[in-house]
Amino acid sequence: MKAIVQDVYGPTGVLRLEEIDQPVPGRGEVLLRVHAAGVDQGVWHLMAGKPYAIRAAGFGLRTPKRRVRGMDVAGRVEAVGPGVTRLRPGDEVYGTCAGSFAEYACAKEDELAPRPARLTPEQAAAVTVSASTALQALRLGRLEPGHRVLVIGAAGGVGTYAVQIAKALGAAHVTGVCSGAKADLVHSLGADAVIDYTLQDPADSGHRYDLVLDTAGNRPLARLRRILTPRGSLVIVGGETGGRWIGGGQRQLCALLLSPFVPHRLRGLASTPRPEDLGTLGELIESGALTPALDRTYPLAEVPLAIDRLRAGRARGKIVIRV
Ligand SMILES: NC(=O)c1ccc[n+]([C@@H]2O[C@H](COP(=O)([O-])OP(=O)(O)OC[C@H]3O[C@@H](n4cnc5c(N)ncnc54)[C@H](OP(=O)(O)O)[C@@H]3O)[C@@H](O)[C@H]2O)c1
Repeated sequence: MKAIVQDVYGPTGVLRLEEIDQPVPGRGEVLLRVHAAGVDQGVWHLMAGKPYAIRAAGFGLRTPKRRVRGMDVAGRVEAVGPGVTRLRPGDEVYGTCAGSFAEYACAKEDELAPRPARLTPEQAAAVTVSASTALQALRLGRLEPGHRVLVIGAAGGVGTYAVQIAKALGAAHVTGVCSGAKADLVHSLGADAVIDYTLQDPADSGHRYDLVLDTAGNRPLARLRRILTPRGSLVIVGGETGGRWIGGGQRQLCALLLSPFVPHRLRGLASTPRPEDLGTLGELIESGALTPALDRTYPLAEVPLAIDRLRAGRARGKIVIRV
């Protein structure tokens, strides 16, 4: 089968399209014919081996343990491994796996769900990593109906879902922060207001929020706390401007250490795939409350171009690979 592989960590130049053996599903796994694969910042981190902390976390100290990148997936079940009870060959599914930038990939049965009828494979492949992160972040921030929410990085992968899910879960008012050229996208997702951070820092807006969800920009905690209501929550999801050792991890750590001593609830998110989230997201999608915002679609051979576009900050929503 064709796959995008890498043997060393580095920039997108380390990736190449190669013929490799099809994987064989193990216990609890299925073999997927991949139809589409999503691109997210995590793909870049695993390709680059940065921040270095991820190498120590088990992905390979000097070279990547897995040669094939890609995590978000949509495809058709081709074969099932031992112990698989829920899925059968022919099922159209979406979810996550290791190595979706390939014609075939193995995925754990638990990390897949039936593809919502409303979505094309390309749309479905854009959902799981970013939307479940957004859902988990809103839950960690204890979103309640009637809350006023600020989403920093609202035109990005996580942000485009966070805006829609916050509205769907009853937020009274959602403000999205993005660059001006993407304001139309963020409004179209249902945001009640948009702040163009190139003109005004959201920390200077004078408004207060029950929940601030931070996915970009590396703003100091003290500045973000200024715009929280007295018992408001701040959830740090990420940002791409942190150092090469732990990335933006120090802000998440500071949030956790400071939180017991202040009235605000400060948290850093480490999202994990949860089968129950796929169910919640599927319901939101089927109800029409949640629709992936797709940027561009690239063929498998152009994965390096897709990742470069994401890293350059040009994507409006999610980039997808068509396999
Ligand atoms: N903690 C976790 O478990 C977890 C899970 C998934 C992702 N993440 C991390 O979360 C972050 C966001 O991921 P993503 O997939 O949404 O990335 P993304 O698709 O690249 O989106 C980031 C968005 O932030 C905007 N942005 C850049 N600089 C900004 C600034 N100074 N202020 C406000 N917005 C700014 C960018 O566009 P414009 O500048 O044009 O508006 C872009 O739309 C990444 O660092 C990722 O690694 C963490």
